[in-house]
Amino acid sequence: MRTIRGRLTFWYTVALTATVLVFGTALYLERRQSSVRELDQRLALEADFARRWLNESYQVLSTVLRPTDPQEIQPGVAANFEGVRDLLLVFDRAGRTLYLNDPVRQLNFAAIERLVALVGPAPVGSSIGTAVLPAGEGPMRHVTLPVDGAGTEVGAVVVAAPLSAVAFGPADLVQSMVLIVPLILLSSVVLGWFLAGRAMRPVERLMDEVQEVTDGRSLHRRVAVPTSGDELARLAVTLNAMFSRLEQSFSQLRRFTADASHELKTPLTVLRTGVERSLVHPGIPPEVLEALDTTLEQLNQLNELVDSLLMLARADEGRAPLALEVQDLRALVVDVGETAEMLGEQHGLSTRVVVPDHAVAVPVDAHRMQQLLLNLVTNAVKYTPAGGSVGVVLEDEGEGVRLTVRDTGIGIASVDLPHIFDRFWRADPARSRTGNRPGVGLGLAITKWIAEAHGGTIAVQSRPGRGSSFVVYLPRTGASGPGDEG
Ligand SMILES: Nc1ncnc2c1ncn2[C@@H]1O[C@H](COP(=O)(O)OP(=O)(O)OP(=O)(O)O)[C@@H](O)[C@H]1O
Ligand SMILES: [Mg+2]
Repeated sequence: MRTIRGRLTFWYTVALTATVLVFGTALYLERRQSSVRELDQRLALEADFARRWLNESYQVLSTVLRPTDPQEIQPGVAANFEGVRDLLLVFDRAGRTLYLNDPVRQLNFAAIERLVALVGPAPVGSSIGTAVLPAGEGPMRHVTLPVDGAGTEVGAVVVAAPLSAVAFGPADLVQSMVLIVPLILLSSVVLGWFLAGRAMRPVERLMDEVQEVTDGRSLHRRVAVPTSGDELARLAVTLNAMFSRLEQSFSQLRRFTADASHELKTPLTVLRTGVERSLVHPGIPPEVLEALDTTLEQLNQLNELVDSLLMLARADEGRAPLALEVQDLRALVVDVGETAEMLGEQHGLSTRVVVPDHAVAVPVDAHRMQQLLLNLVTNAVKYTPAGGSVGVVLEDEGEGVRLTVRDTGIGIASVDLPHIFDRFWRADPARSRTGNRPGVGLGLAITKWIAEAHGGTIAVQSRPGRGSSFVVYLPRTGASGPGDEG
């Protein structure tokens, strides 16, 4: 059982079943004992009545036997036995029957024989017990009572009744239980499921709320603390405290990156200006010039890195607002296409730019959008060997626009695809033959942020050795992403 709710229901049902079984068994045993006790009392009363009637009749008549046939009780005396509704037998002292009442006579022969055998040839003291009669008569409870005041002939009376004759017998109880127990079980499953569901509902609500805190940007959210003050309230408080700590560390981290990048910018600019000035200084020996050139190149790369870091840090903090303006995306695409062509030529690639023949007006931040396209285009050029081709396509989709940058380059392994938008992630050069192409692995992270800040998406399709295709979809409704807050 996968859910706590299922387990709770299961154990609830098990516990209830066990309780019902124990209770039912105890009730059954107690019921059986007391009903046998009641039956015994009844039989004893009847036997006592028969004995006293025989004794009194003897005192009045001086014999209870038929004068003509001393093997039978006189009809006048026997008439009074008709009131006994259980089986009644009167024996002489040798264990032969002197009288059988109607219910006994209705039994079959084997059953009567068995009853007669209960007394035996020499009846002594009183006894009580259960006998199983043959031929399906079922177990009989019987009471034997010696009679010694009704002449030398009369020996004992036996009164017997089937155990099944008890008013509300244990058998009835078992029957009712067999009917009731499945009902109880069924309702316990339903009730258990319902109760467990109720108990788990606040937990599920909490889970939903926690699930909504998906990334660093939603850490400002807090889950609602139940007013009940119970375990769940504590859990909610604990979670909220955890969110606070996480939020704090996240924002410290962002602040640090933003501050560090920002602080780096000024000295970098000063450095670059210095190197640029030195470069144009007359009379510099060629080897120094070369060193300065390399330094300037490195400085430019460093500057780009710092810019990227600063932008991402600001975006994380929600401090990178978009300057949205409705404009024809074609101009932008053609512009970037020209850059792509230039870059492609240097690397021996052919470039193709396709735009619709009507204006494609979309609210975008032109500068960011250019950055997005340039990132994709430079990647395409960077990761495509000479002889390949790069394509930039703009399509009007009605609800939105689709920008595709595709190349016939080295492609991306499918295991790498989930990581390419991660910050500082670059494919393993040994595996993907990226060689020593320059870059730090921030380009696609920024690209993704720009697309999402415009309310759009970015997707990639790629096959190693065949090329890649990055598709950016921008809705016409404009930005609704994380970049436009703040
Ligand atoms: N068009 C492409 N073809 C093949 N692999 C690519 C392509 N674009 C991106 N990749 C892979 O994804 C990685 C991440 O790309 P990303 O643009 O973020 O970083 P980068 O180009 O290495 O560095 P930079 O920060 O300068 O852009 C690349 O290192 C490369 O392995
Ligand atoms: Mg790149």
